[in-house]
Amino acid sequence: MDKYDVGIVGLGWPGERHAEGVQGSDLGRLYAACDLNEERRAKFAAKYFPERVFGSYDEMLGDPELDAVIVSLPNALHFSGTLKALQAGKHVLCEKPPTLNAEQMRQLHAEAEKRGLIYFFGRQMRFSGAVQAARRAVAERRLGEIYFAKTMWVRARGTPGGIGGWFTDRSRAGGGALIDLGVHAIDAAWYLMGNPKPKTVSAQTYQKFPQLVKAAVFDVEDSACGMIRFENGASVLFEVSWAANLTDDIPMGKWGTPELFSTTLFGPKGSIRIVDTLQLHPSVRIPPLSLFEDKDGKLVDSELPFQPVVHEFVSQMQNFLRAIHGEEAAVNSSVQAVLLMEMLDGIYESSLSGREVSLS
Ligand SMILES: NC(=O)c1ccc[n+]([C@@H]2O[C@H](COP(=O)([O-])OP(=O)(O)OC[C@H]3O[C@@H](n4cnc5c(N)ncnc54)[C@H](O)[C@@H]3O)[C@@H](O)[C@H]2O)c1
Repeated sequence: MDKYDVGIVGLGWPGERHAEGVQGSDLGRLYAACDLNEERRAKFAAKYFPERVFGSYDEMLGDPELDAVIVSLPNALHFSGTLKALQAGKHVLCEKPPTLNAEQMRQLHAEAEKRGLIYFFGRQMRFSGAVQAARRAVAERRLGEIYFAKTMWVRARGTPGGIGGWFTDRSRAGGGALIDLGVHAIDAAWYLMGNPKPKTVSAQTYQKFPQLVKAAVFDVEDSACGMIRFENGASVLFEVSWAANLTDDIPMGKWGTPELFSTTLFGPKGSIRIVDTLQLHPSVRIPPLSLFEDKDGKLVDSELPFQPVVHEFVSQMQNFLRAIHGEEAAVNSSVQAVLLMEMLDGIYESSLSGREVSLS
């Protein structure tokens, strides 16, 4: 079978991982790459050898060879970058967060549906070996009906920059720690719970560490916490931070500051905890996947074995390309992206209003 010609726009860290995703998948060919930044284009071309390199996104989209586009641009360009690609007849995989708000995502969903194109949002962690094993344990009903989840991605010190400091600028990022790390933490729990329909949100965002930020603009939150209720009665408690005075139960992270990305699901028969060990310092030993089961009234804990995947971005790309080919349903679908953005909108609205917000 012919391979799909894939182009990547935005050649930072995730752009490079997507290149590896395409090159590691048997359905894709790394055809084109695009970035405004000449240095990044040169570095990328020397490493991954795309057939064509562009400084203009419009020019890349005009290439009739191109079948699919990976949008790996700063957050504020996800909507326009994805819309343009769909209007040019290309399938799209866009990095997280899908858009800046749910209304933008509804428009993209409608556009993709109208044109019969695949829209896919980037959440490679759904494809990790630990998450897939946890999915299977949930499907085998080892926990029973999940009624509650606790999810966090907390970092003591580590407010990001991005080219030009866009991560801390609301006009370019759409938000702070919540839209950056919270989208991963909330989705980790939500995906394993089977993507129940969100019902209400009560949340608060904070900006408490401006002195740590050197960027010219810092008008976003550096932490957030809250609770989401779902229509099936289950709930999720979440906590995220780029900066916080974390306590000593949080281990050392890979950047040399305390950091933990962890999700725990609770059911009457057992609980499962997933820790993203990629975020931990190499000296820290925490099992990536643990099961805490009720055995005749006693709580027994064990490590759940799983087959690690070689590269999460390859598995993600395989699903995206197979969805284009009509062999598999897109796991990170536009319908789910709309619901995810509704939750994020609700969190920001609840924080602003100081009240619980209804989503349904
Ligand atoms: N999935 C993950 O684990 C993960 C990790 C990091 C970042 N991300 C997401 O990936 C996206 C990019 O993040 P990043 O860290 O690479 O940011 P970055 O600022 O390092 O890179 C963005 C790139 O886009 C280029 N660019 C900007 N406008 C452009 C345009 N109009 N045309 C062509 N190129 C343009 C910039 O020159 C830059 O090279 C963000 O949305 C971020 O949330 C995802």
